[in-house]
Amino acid sequence: MAGNLQVRVAGRPTGIPQAEHFAIVDGDVPAVGAGEILVRNLFLSVEPAMRGWLADRSNYADPIAIGSVMRALAVAEVIESRASGFARGDRVLGWFGWQVFAAAGPAAVIRTIGDPDLPPSLALGVLGLNGVTALLGLEKVGRPVVGETVVVSTAAGAVGSAVGQIAKRLGCRTVGIAGGAEKVAICREEFGYDAAIDYRAPGFEAALAAACPRGADVYFDNTAGPISDAVHRHLALNARIVICGTASVASWDPAPAGPRVERTLLTRRASMGGFVVLDHMDEFNAASARLAQWVREGKLNYREEIVDGIEHCPDAIADLYAGRNFGKRLIRLEKRA
Ligand SMILES: NC(=O)c1ccc[n+]([C@@H]2O[C@H](COP(=O)([O-])OP(=O)(O)OC[C@H]3O[C@@H](n4cnc5c(N)ncnc54)[C@H](OP(=O)(O)O)[C@@H]3O)[C@@H](O)[C@H]2O)c1
Repeated sequence: MAGNLQVRVAGRPTGIPQAEHFAIVDGDVPAVGAGEILVRNLFLSVEPAMRGWLADRSNYADPIAIGSVMRALAVAEVIESRASGFARGDRVLGWFGWQVFAAAGPAAVIRTIGDPDLPPSLALGVLGLNGVTALLGLEKVGRPVVGETVVVSTAAGAVGSAVGQIAKRLGCRTVGIAGGAEKVAICREEFGYDAAIDYRAPGFEAALAAACPRGADVYFDNTAGPISDAVHRHLALNARIVICGTASVASWDPAPAGPRVERTLLTRRASMGGFVVLDHMDEFNAASARLAQWVREGKLNYREEIVDGIEHCPDAIADLYAGRNFGKRLIRLEKRA
């Protein structure tokens, strides 16, 4: 019994996953077991972190086995429930993978989506992994206070755009770093950054220095690499660096070489801390509710880039790493009658 289009992992990438690392197959619609729900996915998420999930070594998540359905968060509709607490028609956010149908136990479900006034797709972006990462990463590791300067890389993206706006709400001066004139304009006009800088343009570091006359008190680092090397040269005393992502590092094998950071941390009395949202899932719903309220009040802007059709999944991760997304990249699946 086929009828369940799935994107399966067909090869192990050594760097950025490309279309050839996936295969689209017509799999079976799964039978729903006792204690499970059967869902039909409405929106599939695309995450930069998928590069790490597909690597041949575990980092904070086990590698995905070749031949498996690609691991992904999705917003889905329950079409059959044999689990208590879920009913047909519920909208749910969970680990349902890049496929049309999934049978899942409650452990795979992050939450039932209960905001009928907001588009369900937001549960994957500004109210989901990206927004919650921005909020909790900033609060727990960045710890900004009024009047400080907060510098953000991938500032026009799903995480970065929320970080900038939340820092601004907290009374900080915000400086966004993004690739290209269009994203820089979006940072200023839609996400309210006080200054936005194109890291690809000549004079990037001079512009950064001018935008942070008293240095960066908080650096929300989504890229690592040369962008971060430049920000480290402009840290304020007692700066906090949130290590959230490493988008500019093509591969960790071999590990990239760069300037040593220890002396900078020493002389600036700075600290650097890693943040992984999956460590804070007990706070996910509360954080998401705070973000939802800000969205309702028009105090938190977001961008989504929705592409129709599961056939766009295989290229989607490489697109993120080429910076071709303007906002949260989602794949929408056609809802069948
Ligand atoms: N730690 C966690 O729990 C957690 C959770 C979610 C996301 N993240 C991380 O947060 C970061 C942003 O994720 P997102 O989902 O919001 O994606 P996103 O920012 O919407 O999209 C990724 C962006 O990364 C930038 N990029 C790609 N290659 C780059 C390079 N070589 N140098 C500099 N920038 C590059 C591109 O922006 P430009 O066009 O501006 O270059 C691209 O648009 C990622 O590093 C991701 O892994 C971490």
